Amino acid sequence: MKKKAFLFDLDGVIVDTAKFHYLAWRNLAKEMNFDFTEEQNELFKGVSRVQSLEILLDLASYEATQEQKERWLIQKNEEYLKYIEAMDDSEILPDVVRVLNFLHEKNQGVALGSASKNARSILTKLNLIQKFEAIVDGNDVTAAKPDPEVFLKGGEALKIERTDCIVFEDSIAGVQAANAAGMVSIGIGEKDVLHEADYVFADFTEMSDAFLASLIEA
Ligand code: G6P
Ligand code: MG
Repeated sequence: MKKKAFLFDLDGVIVDTAKFHYLAWRNLAKEMNFDFTEEQNELFKGVSRVQSLEILLDLASYEATQEQKERWLIQKNEEYLKYIEAMDDSEILPDVVRVLNFLHEKNQGVALGSASKNARSILTKLNLIQKFEAIVDGNDVTAAKPDPEVFLKGGEALKIERTDCIVFEDSIAGVQAANAAGMVSIGIGEKDVLHEADYVFADFTEMSDAFLASLIEA
């Protein structure tokens, strides 16, 4: 059997943390007298913390000093971590564990490719960290998605050629990063949002073992 690398994004693919990011950003937005909507939150998916703040300041037309930005970044993360603290494995998205177990049974490479600097603590909290042979996160990259760096590093860590790497992503920027890396991109979410992906599934419950096997054999 061939050995491929399966690279998973974290937020929105493995765990439903987007709602916690949203709550924390929304509370920060209130300090800018800005009403941050869930639609606007789509723009934040896959985007680093620093860039997210820049987008928020832009949306709110708010000019902040460097010092204020730094304070807000800390404040946002502290609030986000409070939600994460209260989280348990019920937050793992449906069938993620089945897919991870299937890939392990088939001896495939499995790595994380996430923009989050909290990735390791979240995977530990969810008892999933042992399922990842390599973790590339927001602490390891200099260029954010849609730059392919995070996935290229994931493939390298597993010593698998980029054309043998398959990426699971819920964000537009992440799908673009996988495509830019020359990898197979699989969108998890809505087809019309993730239309640049090679395949799109609403979630992992729709992805059969037979489909995964076909990716391995391709
Ligand atoms: C992921 C999420 C983004 C988040 C980013 C950084 O890509 O989709 O919404 O801003 O990670 O996460 P962090 O945990 O480092 O703030
Ligand atoms: Mg994501």
